[in-house]
Amino acid sequence: MLQFKIRALAPDEPPPMQLLLLADPSEEIIFSYLHQSHTFVAEHATEIVGALVFQLQDNSTAEIMNVAVEEDWQGKGIGRQLVAYAIDLARQQSIKRLFVCTGNSTLPALALYKRCGFTIESIDKGYFLRNYPQPIFENGLQCTDRVKLRLEL
Ligand SMILES: CC(C)(COP(=O)(O)OP(=O)(O)OC[C@H]1O[C@@H](n2cnc3c(N)ncnc32)[C@H](O)[C@@H]1OP(=O)(O)O)[C@@H](O)C(=O)NCCC(=O)NCCS
Repeated sequence: MLQFKIRALAPDEPPPMQLLLLADPSEEIIFSYLHQSHTFVAEHATEIVGALVFQLQDNSTAEIMNVAVEEDWQGKGIGRQLVAYAIDLARQQSIKRLFVCTGNSTLPALALYKRCGFTIESIDKGYFLRNYPQPIFENGLQCTDRVKLRLEL
């Protein structure tokens, strides 16, 4: 079984930007939420193989802002463990609703969140066309709409 641990990023550690960019191609957007969020990393030995950015929004809601796993490490359960970690964090803080947003073409992420119990809350049509300067294609599909998912805790 794969051994890795999840820990908070230390205050003097740089954010794992290459990983975070796998989930969101805009560094500018990542920086816009990083400072109001908590960043965690999944570590195998001393190698950072995954990242999670978690944001408390008010007394009852929180949002997963970013979750990403290094390509070579995908499909081994790390993404699921990171989402489970976010769910535990939310429960510890008595959060009632956990949200996460992704793209209509981000099929592995949609599968991951659905497997973790999230359901679709809303779809913001054209979000990625309005907010990102370059067209985004993944899994042979254009990413146009932002899908917001919700988990009741
Ligand atoms: C999305 C991502 C974090 C998933 O991480 P991962 O470690 O590969 O996922 P896991 O191995 O933990 O799989 C979790 C579940 O999702 C499912 N899943 C993962 N990738 C899948 C795929 N490509 N197709 C179908 N299902 C998939 C698995 O079957 C698994 O379900 P199970 O645990 O019930 O068997 C990873 O693909 C990634 O980093 N992608 C790039 C960044 C990104 O898109 N982040 C999300 C942006 S919102």
